[in-house]
Amino acid sequence: MRIITSGRLLLRPWQADDADFLFDMESRWEVVRFLGPNPRTLRMREEALASIRHRREVDHPIHGIWAITTRDGSLVGNLALVPIPLSAGQPAVTPPEVEIGWHLHPHAWGIGYATEAARAVMDDAFAQGLTRIIAVTNVGHEPSQAVCRRLGMAHLGQTTRYYDTTKELFEKLPVDHLAALAAHP
Ligand SMILES: CC(C)(COP(=O)(O)OP(=O)(O)OC[C@H]1O[C@@H](n2cnc3c(N)ncnc32)[C@H](O)[C@@H]1OP(=O)(O)O)[C@@H](O)C(=O)NCCC(=O)NCCS
Repeated sequence: MRIITSGRLLLRPWQADDADFLFDMESRWEVVRFLGPNPRTLRMREEALASIRHRREVDHPIHGIWAITTRDGSLVGNLALVPIPLSAGQPAVTPPEVEIGWHLHPHAWGIGYATEAARAVMDDAFAQGLTRIIAVTNVGHEPSQAVCRRLGMAHLGQTTRYYDTTKELFEKLPVDHLAALAAHP
């Protein structure tokens, strides 16, 4: 997995040394409550270590699960670009649909880091040939939907296609992304 940089941030693979930070971040209900189909807080540091091992298993030229740090190396959160689980009964598609997702430590909310990290990963993925990125948020999860809007993702409405539940679906295509970059380099 490559290291990706932006103006203020660096995205790199998770490391075992990050377990204390990950445990602190994901033991908070306000951070995990909208993550995945069965959100739960971490209860033990060992769970953070196991989760880091799992994140490091994503071995793909474009996809990844990155630790987000500031340029001085301080950890601020997680950024994922991975195939999205389809709801039961949905036929598998090839190539898989790819979702982008973010969660940051509350000390790093409200300063633009989620949007900046996601934009850097989108730039990288589209430059490498990915043809579509989606994001799904819980209905009414305004902070995450605001990130999607800041990224210029199109809101396609509600869907039950993913995670066996109803989600708000956002989409970004490389053509839109490149047009936005040309307009605001
Ligand atoms: C969703 C989440 C990542 C959003 O974080 P966020 O900090 O609000 O989002 P951004 O990084 O885009 O920051 C935007 C905010 O930073 C402000 N900001 C301050 N300085 C800024 C700068 N230099 N550049 C850009 N924005 C800046 C913006 O004005 C905006 O504030 P506002 O919301 O008051 O208008 C965060 O709430 C979170 O981690 N939640 C828990 C996990 C979660 O639910 N994840 C999503 C699951 S679908």
